[in-house]
Amino acid sequence: MQDEFHRIKRLPPYVFEEVNRLKAEARNRGADIIDFGMGNPDMPTPDHIVDKLIETVRKPRTNRYSASKGIPGLRRAQAKYYQERFGVKLDPDTQIVATLGSKEGFANMAQAITAPGDVILVPDPTYPIHQFGFIMSGGVIRHLPVNSSHGLDTGDFMGSLDRAMRHSVPKPIALVLNFPSNPTALVASLDFYKEIVAYARRNDLIVLSDIAYAEIYFDGNPPPSILQVEGAIDIAVEFSSLSKTYAMPGWRMGFAVGNEKLIGALARVKSYLDYGAFTPIQVAAAAALNGPQDCVDEIRQIYEARRDCLVEALTRAGWPIPAPPATMFAWAPVPEMFQNVGSLEFSKMLLEKADVAVSPGIGFGEYGEGYVRIALVENEQRIRQAARNIRKFFTQAAETMHNVLPMAKR
Ligand SMILES: Cc1ncc(COP(=O)(O)O)c(C=O)c1O
Repeated sequence: MQDEFHRIKRLPPYVFEEVNRLKAEARNRGADIIDFGMGNPDMPTPDHIVDKLIETVRKPRTNRYSASKGIPGLRRAQAKYYQERFGVKLDPDTQIVATLGSKEGFANMAQAITAPGDVILVPDPTYPIHQFGFIMSGGVIRHLPVNSSHGLDTGDFMGSLDRAMRHSVPKPIALVLNFPSNPTALVASLDFYKEIVAYARRNDLIVLSDIAYAEIYFDGNPPPSILQVEGAIDIAVEFSSLSKTYAMPGWRMGFAVGNEKLIGALARVKSYLDYGAFTPIQVAAAAALNGPQDCVDEIRQIYEARRDCLVEALTRAGWPIPAPPATMFAWAPVPEMFQNVGSLEFSKMLLEKADVAVSPGIGFGEYGEGYVRIALVENEQRIRQAARNIRKFFTQAAETMHNVLPMAKR
């Protein structure tokens, strides 16, 4: 047998593995780790959605293979969401596919459209599937650096995009966008999407937009969809998810919507790979979209209260961080005192000395260095406890930095 398979060689060991291993070790020692590491929602799924699942499981025939691209009622429910939330009219038969979470949808879209050696433009730092979906499909990635916690610099972004288009051979076939962004929490305006759509149409570029955090926004500012832009449907597909909106991460339910040819290609790939989500999950997902939306407001408010609590508590602990405008993440610059050890070492120190787990920015791409991502998946009391631990660690580190730094580098 080969030492290592072609595809596996292209999937580097998970950077977060090291922090996860230390986390497991600390827990085995009995440490109470306050875990802001993974973006895994901790709230329960709203009752009416769970009830619909249970009710449907008990019905005859719901155990059978389901529809790969999603049952019609679910696709109609997603069309209704786009109409009501964004004013975008979609044909549920040809412009919408239900996916097993947006991650699966994204990876299979990459598989559907990529020929070996095709170049794809991907932001960096970003959620790993945005690049590895294409790498697994034989594509080649060109990164667009987008790292800031102080707002998206659209001029800068359009400049990098244009440079990448002009200097890549062969010409890139697709651009990935993700606003609100994981991990940076950057948001995009409709004007930015207008520029992107005009550019993509001129340059024959497919746009794949991931809006998994479209409903997790703060300060009353809902983020737009690229499909609101006239003509976007000719070049764009958007991926959305119920995981964060309705606290349903384990249910695996998302959508791809937009350009018919792209949606058709995804549906074709999926028809070979899967039979769709379990029917009761699809029925319950339709109930989530069609039902009362106050549960979404409540989930959003919980994240917003945690965000405010985190920003205030960390600022008081001597680590001022910018308040994210959306998502369930704070993208926090590594404090001055630790900047030369890097985000991975800093994350390990937080774990070992403050019992706090975060994700090192470097895990999201080379341009993610200098930051850590803090997921808002612990309650406010635990957030305050974490800030107290961090403050204590910073005070000790300031006194003993000459010891701490060389130790971290070993
Ligand atoms: C930007 C982004 N896209 C997609 C996903 C995956 O979501 P899903 O559960 O729908 O696969 C995540 C999950 O963390 C995410 O952060």
